[in-house]
Parts: sequence; C-alpha cells; structure tokens
Amino acid sequence: MDTVVITGANRGIGLGLVQQFLQSNSSVIATCRNPDEAKELLALKHTANLSIYPLIVNDAQSIASFAEELDGRTVDVLINNAGVIGGPRQSLQDMDYDAWSEAFEINTIAPFRLSATLLDNLNRSKHPRIINVSSQMGAMASASTGHHAYRSSKAALNKVMQVLALELDSQGIIVCNVHPGWVQTDMGGVNAQLTVQESAAGLCNLIGSLTMQQTGKFFSWEGEELAW
Ligand SMILES: NC(=O)c1ccc[n+]([C@@H]2O[C@H](COP(=O)([O-])OP(=O)(O)OC[C@H]3O[C@@H](n4cnc5c(N)ncnc54)[C@H](OP(=O)(O)O)[C@@H]3O)[C@@H](O)[C@H]2O)c1
Repeated sequence: MDTVVITGANRGIGLGLVQQFLQSNSSVIATCRNPDEAKELLALKHTANLSIYPLIVNDAQSIASFAEELDGRTVDVLINNAGVIGGPRQSLQDMDYDAWSEAFEINTIAPFRLSATLLDNLNRSKHPRIINVSSQMGAMASASTGHHAYRSSKAALNKVMQVLALELDSQGIIVCNVHPGWVQTDMGGVNAQLTVQESAAGLCNLIGSLTMQQTGKFFSWEGEELAW
C-alpha cells in the first residue's frame, strides 16, 4: 500500500487526489493550511487510511514541524499540489509585485523545500516519486500573453524539478511534473473543461504507472508527454 503526501488537500485538485488515492487503497497524508476549517476533507476522516496535518508550504517552520510529525514514516509519493495564481493584477500596466513574489514562494520554492525535507522519508520507499502539479501555462514551448507571475513561477518549477530529477536519479527517486488540464476549481473557474474527478483520476493512474524511464519528464493528466 502506497503512502501518499498531498499538499493543498482541502479543496480543488488536492481534495480530488485525496479521494482518488483513498479509492485506490493508498494511505493518504493530507495536508492543508487550516485542517479545522477543511470541512470536505474532515468529512472523509472516517476512512482509516486518511490522516490530516497542518502545512503552510511557504513557511519553513511549518514544513519542519510537519516532517517532525511524520517521525521517519515512509513516503512513497509526495504530491506538491498547493498553488496560487499570483493575484488578479498581472499585466504590464498593472502588476502586483508582492503577489508575484508570493507565487514564487508557493509555486516554485515550496515544492523544492518540501521535497528536500522529506528526502529521508522518500528514500525509505521501494518506489519513491515526487510529483509536482505544474501547468502548461508555464511551458516555454507554448508562447502566450498575460499571467506573468503564474506562468513564470510554473516555468521555474519545471526547471527546478528537471534538475532535481537528474540529481535524484542515482537514488532511484522519480521526479515528474504534471499538467492537470483545465479543471473546474476555484482557480480554474466554472467554465473549465474537466471536473476535479476526471483530472484526479487521470493523475492517479499516471502516478501509479510511473517508472524510472519517465523521470525528469512533464506529463498531462492523461499520461501524454508534454514539451517543457
Ligand atoms: N485548476 C486548473 O485549471 C489548473 C490548471 C493547471 C494547473 N493547476 C495547478 O493545480 C494545483 C491545484 O490547483 P486548484 O485548481 O485545485 O486550485 P485551488 O482550488 O485554488 O486550490 C489551491 C490549493 O492550494 C492551497 N494553497 C495555496 N497556498 C498555500 C500555502 N501557502 N500553503 C498550503 N496550501 C496552500 C489552497 O489552500 P487554501 O484553501 O488554504 O487557500 C488550496 O488547497 C495548483 O498548483 C495549480 O497551479 C490548476
């Protein structure tokens, strides 16, 4: 049975991933900023395989406390899902620079810090995987305008994890970034193409099938390899 750590698990794609991994009989360690207020996550608490921890991903102390709580427990899959869009003002005429910095902290630096902190836990696994929920909006291969903060933070996440994949190759740790599709969440909006369930089911299948041959690559929720 895989043990799966998921960040930003109280709503959106993170919550969908919790449900999918519980259905596939994994043991899920769901993390979120405010567990006491995470109603939908707490409603799943009757499931014996679910544990819930507080974790603010851009807070170094919070990451350290979470690692301490895990107390050396094996982690088979770490899913860095928590993310932000970077605020509503992201244009040449009107940029919120503080929100841009925060987007880098949450979308780029936090996945690296959490991966580094949980390395010993991952190394205890026979099939360790670090999965980062990125976005095609950060792909260098597809040029588009607007959303500078979001796009650049995801592009940087892609590069950071491509490097980490090479560095962790000799330890047998798979590192992959995924694009979840355009999903009906608070971030994706109601007009998005996919339900949370569709996206999370695809991601769950993909994550279950990954081998070392695929480390360092970028995949869609359907398992299609994407250009960086
Ligand atoms: N939806 C899409 O169409 C789409 C497309 C491509 C990529 N993505 C990516 O998919 C991931 C999930 O997005 P979503 O659509 O599910 O977004 P969402 O509905 O806005 O949920 C974002 C999640 O991230 C958490 N989060 C934000 N900042 C955090 C922090 N500092 N510490 C801990 N948790 C934090 C939120 O917690 P709170 O409730 O506490 O705010 C929430 O659980 C993100 O990385 C996003 O960039 C989404």
